[in-house]
Amino acid sequence: MGRRWQLERRRDYYYRQAKLESYRSRASYKLKQLNRRYHLLRRGDVVVDLGAAPGGWMQVALEVVGGTGFVLGVDLQRIEDFPNKNAATMAADFTDPAVVEKIREKLPRPADVVISDASPSISGVWDLDQARSAELVKSALLVSERVLVPGGNFLAKVFQGALMGDLLKQVKEMFEFVKISKPQASRKGSAEVYIIGKGFRRPG
Ligand SMILES: C[S@@+](CC[C@H](N)C(=O)[O-])C[C@H]1O[C@@H](n2cnc3c(N)ncnc32)[C@H](O)[C@@H]1O
Repeated sequence: MGRRWQLERRRDYYYRQAKLESYRSRASYKLKQLNRRYHLLRRGDVVVDLGAAPGGWMQVALEVVGGTGFVLGVDLQRIEDFPNKNAATMAADFTDPAVVEKIREKLPRPADVVISDASPSISGVWDLDQARSAELVKSALLVSERVLVPGGNFLAKVFQGALMGDLLKQVKEMFEFVKISKPQASRKGSAEVYIIGKGFRRPG
């Protein structure tokens, strides 16, 4: 990483705050802000976090669900273990259909919430990166269909662009309430936004 990037990072409020509060990632504040506004996670919930490394969202989810809840983090990269008994991690590609069954096996019961902050590796070619980001959301929706309880909630990051319309249509078919939000902790210049889906409709 370049020197300028390092300097900017050190100046960043949420980066410094994450260090102070021992969060694994500045992204923790995005989930905190979104949850404060949309009440996606509750005490006792079972949560699946897709694209969870290094684990900043998992930390926030564990705080909210407490000892009676459960949080499973899935990532291509290894996620450092948590001391919590009610946290589990899995090194896997959640876009692989075979992985859904493995996720289900790790859960104590069907999930109340699926969250995904997954990012594709950035090519710099805008259309391609946006398409890959939309594909990750579609895969997260496929996982949600198989693991969520009726009435469950969904949250996923997506890069804004031409494919948003189709994606939102799909989310609206699956959830009663749908919103797009950009939390304050999301960098102004970044194209990322978060899709919120509440009230998973039981598949017909
Ligand atoms: C921005 S990071 C997530 C940060 C996390 N929310 C946190 O707070 O620590 C995005 C992650 O998505 C993961 N990812 C991207 N594609 C994936 C896939 N197909 N399966 C699993 N993880 C994936 C990447 O490996 C990366 O760790």
